[in-house]
Amino acid sequence: MRNNACLRLRGRTAARLVSRAVFASVLLAACLMFLASGAAGEPGSQPALLLGAAWYPEQWPESRWDADLQLMEDAHLHVVRVGEFAWSTMEPSPGHYSFAWLARAIRLAEKHHIAVVIGTPTDAPPAWLTSAHPEILRVDAAGHRAEHGGRRQFNYASPEYRVFCATIAGQLAQRFGHDPAVIGWQIGNEYTDESFDPQTRRQFDNWLRRKYGTLDALNRDWTTAYWSQTYDRWDEIPLPTDGGNPGLLLDHRRFVSDTWRSFQQVQIDAIRRYADPRQFITTNIGGLGWSDNWDHYEITQPLDQAAWDDYVGEGHLNVARNAAMHDFARGWKRKIFWVMETQPGSVNWAPINTTLDRGETRAMAWQAVGHGADAVLYWQWRDALNGQEQYHGALVGPDGIPLPIYSEICGIGNEFERASAALRGTKPVAQVAIVVSYDSRWAIDFQPHSKNYDQLQVLLGSYRPLRDERLTVDIVSADAPLDSYKVVFAPSLNVISKELAAHLLAYVTQGGHLLLGPRSGMKDEHDALNIERQPGPMVVPLGGRVEQYYALDGGVPVSGTLGSGSASIWAEQLSKSTPDTQVLLRYGKSNGWLDGQPAMITRPVGQGRITYLGAILNPDLMHRIISWATAAAQIQPEFGAIPANVEVCRRVGASHTVFVVINHGSAAAKILLPAAMHDLLNGGQVGSVELDPQGVAVLSKGTD
Ligand code: GAL
Repeated sequence: MRNNACLRLRGRTAARLVSRAVFASVLLAACLMFLASGAAGEPGSQPALLLGAAWYPEQWPESRWDADLQLMEDAHLHVVRVGEFAWSTMEPSPGHYSFAWLARAIRLAEKHHIAVVIGTPTDAPPAWLTSAHPEILRVDAAGHRAEHGGRRQFNYASPEYRVFCATIAGQLAQRFGHDPAVIGWQIGNEYTDESFDPQTRRQFDNWLRRKYGTLDALNRDWTTAYWSQTYDRWDEIPLPTDGGNPGLLLDHRRFVSDTWRSFQQVQIDAIRRYADPRQFITTNIGGLGWSDNWDHYEITQPLDQAAWDDYVGEGHLNVARNAAMHDFARGWKRKIFWVMETQPGSVNWAPINTTLDRGETRAMAWQAVGHGADAVLYWQWRDALNGQEQYHGALVGPDGIPLPIYSEICGIGNEFERASAALRGTKPVAQVAIVVSYDSRWAIDFQPHSKNYDQLQVLLGSYRPLRDERLTVDIVSADAPLDSYKVVFAPSLNVISKELAAHLLAYVTQGGHLLLGPRSGMKDEHDALNIERQPGPMVVPLGGRVEQYYALDGGVPVSGTLGSGSASIWAEQLSKSTPDTQVLLRYGKSNGWLDGQPAMITRPVGQGRITYLGAILNPDLMHRIISWATAAAQIQPEFGAIPANVEVCRRVGASHTVFVVINHGSAAAKILLPAAMHDLLNGGQVGSVELDPQGVAVLSKGTD
């Protein structure tokens, strides 16, 4: 008889579940409906939508594996990621590989209809390696060499370490590259810390030599006459640990990105040599998505798909931030992505490791899907009995019995199976984009000029109103193709080279509307000031420029044809130089310099338009600006009116559209649908849905 944990759980706690929570009873009903229908996902194929977990079989007796996999199957998990910290088990002594246990774990997973992603173990080299080759250990900015006992203790630039990484990755691929249950590979784990050892410094010198050719060129582009920074030898150039010339700092971040990329490429090559093309290669990007140690576009470029680790940490889901991070992750490769790790309730590394409310984990999983994730994996299945993460959230306790969150995840898995067929082949499709660049982010972060200038908040200032207008938003690199967008917002595009300016101008002349935000175009690709003033090479097409910028310590009134409100944190005094440049907003009385001066200007260019907004505005006025831009571009909302705190996400297929509607609020909400739709979770045609707090509806419109 099928060992069904949904039912077992129901048996144990049914009275409490039914009487205490509407959510739980809905979940239970869904669970039972699923069992009654005998459905098991899409016939004959892996589901399009996968729920899964990070599983570490090496930490448990083999006799326990089947019970764990059975509990996973019962929770409708269809994928596990294994192996990414298991080097000492995979290669217990130099050159002696032990993969038989992994092969048995994979076969057992397969028996439970669970696909496998193998992580290469290069984030945690074994002790025999680090003790025999201490030169592969990273050196931090203070000059301390890492010791064994943690993870991420390796030097990403070490050629010796890369040989070890290529060897273990190649060995794994030889063994599992044709395994039918292995669907993909994850390289390492959350690339994090760079190294500041002498060897890395030499590599940086060589990187600069390759880039500039001559020291004269480097000295010119970095303006090294300033503070006697002129270099006469390549090895005089520091590996920056604590500030420095902005040109040097920007090149160092590019070097770090390139070095992680080449670290990764060594393993891609080793795996591709043996692995079936159907097996994807990815890596899991950490840092809560927005980290900027290195360029995410660079790193994901050679990968088959992007994946990121979506953690809340302390508190609750920040809906807009998390939504934006999914859209950002989708933009790295401009395609569907995976959430490779997310928290089952709580983490162990936040200042206060609060737990997500009941239902919030489900809302979060569906938000990921709504924004373009085709897989969501919990970290982790079961906490190791010892090790640094004993307090982290998990699905199963140390006794091997499901924890309370397991029932919620069982419900999510059930729902993923129900909606999977309809979501197959669908993706978010946007008419508007927000563009970003790592050069710009780094350049502002090196010299923020105001501690309150938070680039993510500035981005969200445009993002939130677009989402409130019920629009899908792509967040893409500024140099990505833009022709499919009617409006493109560039919230803080600080670095605009001539090439980037040409790309943006081509978009505008062909009919696009480019809306540049504060600090745009101040710098060139060497992080040097553009001599045209802001927005640099865009000054002439805009027919206007920034005369002066001001960091604010209070509010400044702003008003004009688009309404009135206030600027804070940052304000730029603009001017116009052509008669057809129109002033849309002006500052009111303030520091004298800004009084009465333009805050926002716009000009038709070719078939399109360039607009420059020089201030961070209050949300209401920002919303009016967004509405003005979308209305002028004749962009219609993708869905009907929705109550506050309800989020709607759209995924478009060839002949149908799927909407994921989530009530993130604390009160029940009724949503009238713009047309009758098929309710993928509960069945039937519906014209409206009522959602409890954290409630989710997944609706399909069209001929699927
Ligand atoms: C991630 C990491 C996992 C685990 C998790 C805990 O950053 O990739 O291995 O440590 O954090 O939240």
